[in-house]
Amino acid sequence: MAPSNDFLRSKSSISLHVNGEPVEVSFASYKTLLEVLREDLQLTGTKHGCELGECGACAVLVDGRPVLSCLVLGLACQGRAVETVEGMASASGLHPLQKTFAELGAAQCGYCTPGFLLTAQALLDANPSPTFRQIQEALAGNICRCTGYIKIYEAVELAAARLRGEDASPRRETLYGTDFDDSGLLPVLDAGNGSRATSGSETAAVLRGQPDRKTENEKPDGREPR
Ligand code: FES
Ligand code: FES
Repeated sequence: MAPSNDFLRSKSSISLHVNGEPVEVSFASYKTLLEVLREDLQLTGTKHGCELGECGACAVLVDGRPVLSCLVLGLACQGRAVETVEGMASASGLHPLQKTFAELGAAQCGYCTPGFLLTAQALLDANPSPTFRQIQEALAGNICRCTGYIKIYEAVELAAARLRGEDASPRRETLYGTDFDDSGLLPVLDAGNGSRATSGSETAAVLRGQPDRKTENEKPDGREPR
């Protein structure tokens, strides 16, 4: 049933907590929490994506649980505690998740980042030691068109370790993408047959997409053909 014109013209006022501060806000009654945050409270860190509950860009925490703010009426947030990305940093600096996202390059255009950060924060609040699989599952409702996801999952893993008090650093291949040979100059690449190219000529062949003769003729177990 379509909303009546009276409802569309009406205004509502609610009291809630936003990022730990008590807030009173008036807004057109039909507005979603996403619209109230962005348009009436000027908290534009929460992103407006699909507006269909598909992309996760609008995720915020309501009473500590991740919700898609495009699917929640502002009116439904009377008395609730809402946390947005603006509330993640504290006087002591960025939240560990924000730091590891920046450190690992887990944010590129950044449009998806607030939703990922808050969803990840809810995960780590509930489970300080998630497995890689649990991180993937928790973030399955958030879409990123830039990063390929791996750096996001690794950033959450690293932040979790630091929040547990571990002296954790990013893995070398997370930052640099590959290993290097003993000279430190040549990347050690996967030759495509399960072996690793380590000499300059092998590396060059792999980079050209042309395995050298030995690699081509070698059997998978490393034996020469008869
Ligand atoms: S804008 Fe809410 S899920 Fe996409
Ligand atoms: S960083 Fe661009 S959409 Fe995720």
